[in-house]
Amino acid sequence: MEILLCNSRADAVALTAELIAARLRATPAMVLGLATGRTMEEVYDHLATSGAPFDQCTTFNLDEYVGLPPDHPQSYATYMRQYLFDRVDIDISRTHLPDGMAEDLVAAARDYERRIAAAGGIDLQLLGIGASGHIGFNEPLSAFRSRTRDKILTPTTREQNAGMFGGDPAQVPKRALTMGVGTILDSRELILLACGSAKADVVARAVEGPLTSRISASAIQLHTSCKVILDAEAAAELQDIDYYRFVARNEEKWDPYRQYL
Ligand code: GLP
Repeated sequence: MEILLCNSRADAVALTAELIAARLRATPAMVLGLATGRTMEEVYDHLATSGAPFDQCTTFNLDEYVGLPPDHPQSYATYMRQYLFDRVDIDISRTHLPDGMAEDLVAAARDYERRIAAAGGIDLQLLGIGASGHIGFNEPLSAFRSRTRDKILTPTTREQNAGMFGGDPAQVPKRALTMGVGTILDSRELILLACGSAKADVVARAVEGPLTSRISASAIQLHTSCKVILDAEAAAELQDIDYYRFVARNEEKWDPYRQYL
């Protein structure tokens, strides 16, 4: 795991977007895994103006609420169109989100896994982290080997995401269809971005804490190519932060990112 410490939220967002843009420029036909949430809105703003080529890439989103049709204002399908897909030259037929409206969620989940496999797997998966320690919507006790399936959202998550539902947690759907932790770990590269003091505790538990399905994000410790990009507030509770700074200062291959450290 590589910890990239940024001075500000704007720097962390810009670095994340620039890494994605660099991968797209190097391999335009790549398979990109996308995330949602407030933090990612800024990443997509940056990406939309970066000029990165989206015309050949294929995308898979981590998750979608169960029961919200794609044209629902709070669906992640709408979110993706609003923040990214409508603003770049992407082929919408190559964008994928789980079908939260499927009558048979088990079959929809299996189909999502099949589509990811048919695309050749995910090259780069972008991740945020929820207050419950989730990646995607893998709430506590999600098996590290789990695949796409529907999960009940925790009260913590419904509280956290209430802002997008008029501030009322009861309006947040109770379930979501999400890639599993195992699905995420199968991606060839992971980038997890977290900003702000509200994430400091859960970031420390994910990055430095014991591997535990109580914090599904701790599973990223098992991945051999994972960058964690943090602003100073989100990094505030890391115990070994001096060591991560030392590594960053001495690691040749990070030279291009030195300006952000
Ligand atoms: C939702 C998504 C997660 C994301 C989280 C972070 O819960 N399902 O994939 O990590 O939001 O949200 P925010 O960036 O708003 O803190």
